[in-house]
This record gives sequence, structure tokens and C-alpha cells, in this order.
Amino acid sequence: MSFLSDAEIVINALNDYYHESISAEKPVIRQKPIKELIEDLKLASYVKKGGLSKGRLSEFLNQYFLNTTRLHHPSYMAHQVSIPHYSGALGALIDGFTNNPMSIYEMGPAATSIEYFMINWLLEKVGWIPAPYHWQKKDEKSSFGGGILTHGGSLANLTAMIAARNKSAPDAWKKGNPKDLAILVPKGSHYSIARAAGIIGIGHDAMYHLDVNEKGAVIPDKLKSAYDGLIGDGKRPIALVANACSTAVGIYDPLDEIGDFCRENHLWLHVDGAHGASALLSEKYKYLLKGVEKADSVTWDAHKLMRVPTLCAILLMRDHRNIDNAFEQEASYIFHDKEQPGFDFIHRTVECTKAGLGLKLFMVLAALGENGLSEYIERQVELAAEAYEYIQNLHGFECAVKPQSNILCFRVKGSDGLQLKIRDKLMAEGDFYISSTSFNDIRYLRLSIMNPCTDMDSIRKLVQRIRELAEEKIHH
Ligand SMILES: Cc1ncc(COP(=O)(O)O)c(C=O)c1O
Repeated sequence: MSFLSDAEIVINALNDYYHESISAEKPVIRQKPIKELIEDLKLASYVKKGGLSKGRLSEFLNQYFLNTTRLHHPSYMAHQVSIPHYSGALGALIDGFTNNPMSIYEMGPAATSIEYFMINWLLEKVGWIPAPYHWQKKDEKSSFGGGILTHGGSLANLTAMIAARNKSAPDAWKKGNPKDLAILVPKGSHYSIARAAGIIGIGHDAMYHLDVNEKGAVIPDKLKSAYDGLIGDGKRPIALVANACSTAVGIYDPLDEIGDFCRENHLWLHVDGAHGASALLSEKYKYLLKGVEKADSVTWDAHKLMRVPTLCAILLMRDHRNIDNAFEQEASYIFHDKEQPGFDFIHRTVECTKAGLGLKLFMVLAALGENGLSEYIERQVELAAEAYEYIQNLHGFECAVKPQSNILCFRVKGSDGLQLKIRDKLMAEGDFYISSTSFNDIRYLRLSIMNPCTDMDSIRKLVQRIRELAEEKIHH
């Protein structure tokens, strides 16, 4: 049977790929020109003739992996994407094969049950009440939590903004937005919030920026003036968005104080914890999100710090009714009254067909256990702290802020252009892959230390190479 023999080829090739990556035998990144790569992969020929099996499959995989960015490589320190645990990848395979679009229970009871269970588990981590397993009519009036797994944090943020808008302006779904809607956000919020403002028709001009300190964290004492400014302009805030943590430098906003402010002013608080909510899994670092339970909604990406392959994000709501009422769309073929033993998620999501994302999340947790995942998160945060101490004390280097998460931004003394040239050179050489960001209008090199194989030795080697490149650039 070709499934078993082809699957064996794929699994063996992945195993080789994994070992070549963790041992740094192959470059972390290799970017051939796209036209050449399309030819090397023989895409046109396979599409025309088919037959991607056996020896041809091996040959194709060989080319594919040669041109794949190796996240498992210890010098992968670029973006906030998980280094997937293989159990999660097996979950993705099972989900792809079984293909149960589980937005309705009948199209994937096991997948739906896992999503329901995982949402409850996550709700408890935030400090919210999990949903019951048997819904009764009276549950429509109870304020236990709810949520949805989405294809990414951007979609989770958009869904949160839709729900918040519908709460503030219940007629908007039918009649369109009133003109006075606005959102309060820190300047360093992820661009998906600005996109959400655009998509739901509130518009970027109605985003009011909250004052932040030199680390980019919201200043609680300045919340009132931003709020008063907005009210003075005749606007109505649908939500205040806080970062846990910020994308650029990984700094947490003071959620406790922000939460109090929002409660006093009856403001919907959305916590964008796409990257940093995973700290809730660590007894040691959950203090970073102190007060998160005062929020109305939280975005949390499992495909960032939970070792789950992309995509797997979660939107959680303190009160399930806010997500259950977010989309008032009629779809009578699905939303008819029916006797069923499970739960339909379809009314909570932008998506119609939805993958069984919970399986990947569950399988990683079931492999590592809560403690295993917590140890991983603590290790990454502590490595970033150690790397900071090391780099900050080096002559000719400076860091943007003392990290609170596993994100570390630094620069060699010199122009913004120099930082970009260094990054380009590193990428072209292929031994290190890092990102770069602008913070407080200054260009930094940026590490997201996601990889459990990255250690201080990897960081020392990176810094050494950066130093050499900086000196070369300075002298030539
Ligand atoms: C704070 C924050 N929010 C949202 C996102 C977007 O998440 P996703 O890439 O899963 O759409 C990111 C991504 O880096 C992020 O850092």
C-alpha cells in the first residue's frame, strides 16, 4: 500500500531533517531565488504528470528540506513561532488525514470535545469559570467562560474586537457601525489590532493611543487622560487593548491596574497575550499577568510558546455570552434546534470550515505534561535574561530593555543601517537567523529564543559573528 510506504519515506526524511537541524549540520536558512527554486522542486512537472511517490517523493523531500527554514536549528532565534514538539506535528497529520471540520459537533465529536476541554483548561489558567459539559436553558443567563480556537492570534484579536463592538453597539451587525466607535491601544500593540479596526470599519483614526513608558508599557496614571480625550472627542470606546506581552520587546502591560481602570469605567478589556499568556503556565512567571482575570477577553497563541505547530490560537472570554452573541448570522442548515450530545462552535467563529486545532495542542500537553511545558517556558525566559546580562555588559553592544519574556533586543553601537546590514549578512551566510525591530524609533537586532536547543553557547557564537561583521563594516 503506497500510503504506508510513502508515510515511511516522509517520517524517515523528517527524522533526518530533525537531526541535521538540531546538530546544526545544515544552514538554518537558505533563500534561493524563487524561480530557481520552483524549477529545482520540479513543481510544474509534478502538477502536470502526478506520480509524487516512492523514489520521486524522496527526491522531492530532499529538495524541499534543503530550502526549508530550520526552526529546530539552535541558531533559529528569529520569529515568535513554536519549535514544534513532534507530538503536535503528529496531531497535525492526524487532523489532516481525518479532516473533521469540527465547527459542528456531528463533523468531529472527538475534535470538538478536545477543543471544549482545552478551552476549559485554559479558562482556569486565566482564573475564569470553565463551561459546563451539559448546557441547560438557564446557562444562557450564566456568566461562565467560553472561547474558540482560531487559525492564529490575528483572527483571535479580530474576533475579540467584533465581540466587543457588538457589545457596545448591538445594532451594528444589522445597521452598520455608528460613527462614534473607538479603541484604546498602546502604541506598540500588534498590527493585527489596527487591521481589526480597519476590517470592522472603526478605522485607524479611531484608535486612541495610551501613553507608555520607556519600555513601551502602559502607564496606569495616564489612562484617564487618554480616556477623557476620547470622550471629549465625542467617541465611545468599544475596548481597551493591553499587551501581555508586546511584540517588539516582550514587555507586559500592568494588567492589574488597567483591569481596575476598565472595571471602574465599564470598559471591555482585551488582553493580547498571543505571545506572553503562556507565562500563566509557570508558577514562577504567572505574576507577569497579575490581574488578567479582570479582562473580558484574552488572545493566547499555542503556536508560539506552547510548542504547538502553526496554526493554533485561542480566544478566551470571561463570559461565554459575549462570544456566543458575537456573530448573529443566520445559517438555518446548521443553527436549527437539534437534539445532540455535544456542542457546536460555529456561531463563535469567523470561519465556517475549521480544522481540529485542539488535537495538536492536546497532544503536546499530553506528551510533555503541564510541568514539562512550564519548565520549557521558564528555561526560555531565563535564557533571555542570561543573554541580556551577557550582551549588556559587552563593550560596543547595548540592549533595548531588560527582558521579561524570551524576546531580547540589542544593537551594536552604530547606525540603524548597520544593524540591518548585519542581519542581511547573517541571513545570507545561513548560520544564524535573527529578526530585527524598530523600538522607540531605533533599529535593534531581535532574538525570540523559542528553541529548546538554543543555549548560551549559541548566543555567544552569534554575538561573536555580529562583532566581526560590525568591525568589517566599520573598517571598509
Ligand atoms: C502580541 C501579538 N499579538 C498578535 C500576534 C499575531 O498572532 P498570529 O501571528 O498568530 O496571527 C502576534 C504575533 O507575533 C503578537 O506578538
